[in-house]
This record gives sequence, C-alpha cells and structure tokens, in this order.
Amino acid sequence: MADPIVVAEGLHKSFGDTHALRGLDLSVPAGTVCGVLGPNGAGKTTAVRILATLSDPDAGHARIAGHDVVREAAQVRERIGLAGQYAAVDEKLTGRGNLRMFGRLYHLPRRQAHQRADELLDRFGLTDAADRPVHGYSGGMRRRLDLITCLILRPEVLFLDEPTTGLDPRSRGEIWDSIRELVADGTTVLLTTQYLDEADQLADDIAVIDHGKVIATGTPDELKATIGDRLDVTLEDPATLPAAATVLTTLAGTEPTTTDADRLTVALPATGLRLADIVRELDHAGVAAADLSLRRPTLDEVFLRLTDRKETMR
Ligand SMILES: Nc1ncnc2c1ncn2[C@@H]1O[C@H](COP(=O)(O)OP(=O)(O)O)[C@@H](O)[C@H]1O
Ligand SMILES: [Mg+2]
Repeated sequence: MADPIVVAEGLHKSFGDTHALRGLDLSVPAGTVCGVLGPNGAGKTTAVRILATLSDPDAGHARIAGHDVVREAAQVRERIGLAGQYAAVDEKLTGRGNLRMFGRLYHLPRRQAHQRADELLDRFGLTDAADRPVHGYSGGMRRRLDLITCLILRPEVLFLDEPTTGLDPRSRGEIWDSIRELVADGTTVLLTTQYLDEADQLADDIAVIDHGKVIATGTPDELKATIGDRLDVTLEDPATLPAAATVLTTLAGTEPTTTDADRLTVALPATGLRLADIVRELDHAGVAAADLSLRRPTLDEVFLRLTDRKETMR
C-alpha cells in the first residue's frame, strides 16, 4: 500500500493543566476519508489544528505528504485546506464574491479566480444563490460555501472539523453529498465528528478518540464487529420485564438495557447464542416475546462500549 498521506505519531498537547492530546497516533492513506470520532473535549480540534500547522505539538510528530507540520509548515500549507466549525466567509459579500475574494487572496490571477469561483458554485449546486449576499444564506448553504472556499486551490488533504455540527438533517445531507463529491476527485479527507452515523456514512476508516488518545481504529464494520450482536426483545406483557431481564442476564452474561416499557436490548457474547435457547428459557420463566430480533450493534453502542460511558452522545 502507498505511504499514508497524513501521519501523526505520539502527539501531545497541553493547555495549562488540561492534557488535550496524550499520545495521539493517526495514519490516513491517500484518497480515503478518515473519520475522527469523539465526544466534546476529546481533542479533535486540537489534533486538526496541529495537523493544519495552526498550532505546534508539545511532543510527537506529524507529517502531511511526507512534510513535517512544524519544520516544513509552508510545504504543508500548500497541500491542505481547513474548514472549521464556524464559517469564515464574509457576510456582506455574495457567494460568488466570497469565492473570488479568496481566489485573489490565494494569489490566483483575476480571470482564474473568477473561473474557479464559477466552477465550484456549479459543481456544488450553489449557482442559484451565488449572487445573493451570504447574510441571507441558510446555515447549511453557508457551511457549504465555507467548504468550497477551501477547495479553490485543490488541496490534496482537506480537514473538516465537525462540518455538520448544529445543522438540520437536510443540510447535513447536503454537506455529506458535497464531501462525497470532493472525495470522488481524489481528495483525502480527515473529518472530525461527534456523530456516529456521519462517520458510518462517510468514512473508510474511523479513529475513535477519547481524552486525547485513539482508543479504537477500524472500518465502521470492523468496529461494529468488535462487540457482539444485539438482541432486541419486545414483550407481550410489560409486567414480565423483570423476569425477562433476569433470563437475559443469565444467558448473555451481561445486563440488558430497557429501551421501552416492553422492550429490552442485550449485548450477546461474541460467541453468539442460539435464538431457540433464548426463546426456551424465556418460556420457562413465563415470558412471552412478541418479537425477537438479532442485529449488528450501532456505532453509538460501539462507542459507548469502547468508552464505557453511560451518557449518549446526542
Ligand atoms: N486554547 C485552549 N486553551 C485551553 N484549553 C483548551 C484550548 N483548546 C482546547 N482546550 C481544551 O482541550 C481539550 C480538548 O479540546 P478540543 O481539542 O477542542 O476538543 P474537541 O474538538 O474534541 O471538542 C478540552 O478539554 C478543551 O477545553
Ligand atoms: Mg472541536
């Protein structure tokens, strides 16, 4: 396999007493999307800022296309784009005006700046809104414009720090489409997110981070496979819930969670269990199940299992 285009090795960064990064490692093959998944405060932005040369690590190294982010920051900057959680576009200018202005800021000749602006507006479906001032844009359109301003110079690596946080579902979908579009061009994307479904939708590989360290890596499917399947049980009579919980705890070796008055979910052991055995044991205990279904865990469940936290991320 080709050398990874983004590499981080043992990154440490503290702010006073806060250890934002505690030995973070990452490796992203060119042309792929890496999802860096973690809750608020996990260290995602700190890592992105170091990789994008905006901040120096206290210890450790990082390279973009073989260039050290500290010693060769200029070469790194030529190859990257960064879109933050907060849009950097000018409110008073139109969408087209913003793109032209950024093109000029990046030293493109006037004609080329204009041409690139038109190209990007067309490609990312913003042509209709292109000549309206940005202050009238929806949150999603603004974020999309912010994202495409990062594409003016055709970066090899694009960092997207929580690109959809705070957006409604429809705008999130539009941003996802835009990201897929730019990935199709061969851009390598490192995307941070708190949303497990987002990582599942977009990422080839996921690095789960918590407290400044990677706690798991793999494809979405690999991560789901690290814990056993889930069994959802719907009871005919909610009054049998305690009895059902006792049976499931004995069989699975772990306590089920109650998801509704008449519904339980339990993580099965990685070795699995036979549904027939479960039905028989429930029956012995006088529990009638209206429905039993076996499924792969969601990424939420994987994350909770990995971080062993009780709170959910949304
Ligand atoms: N400039 C800063 N000064 C002080 N603390 C900071 C600063 N930047 C980040 N932190 C702290 O470092 C930790 C990681 O923050 P951050 O990288 O922003 O996490 P995330 O982006 O995953 O939410 C948090 O505890 C945060 O409060
Ligand atoms: Mg952040």
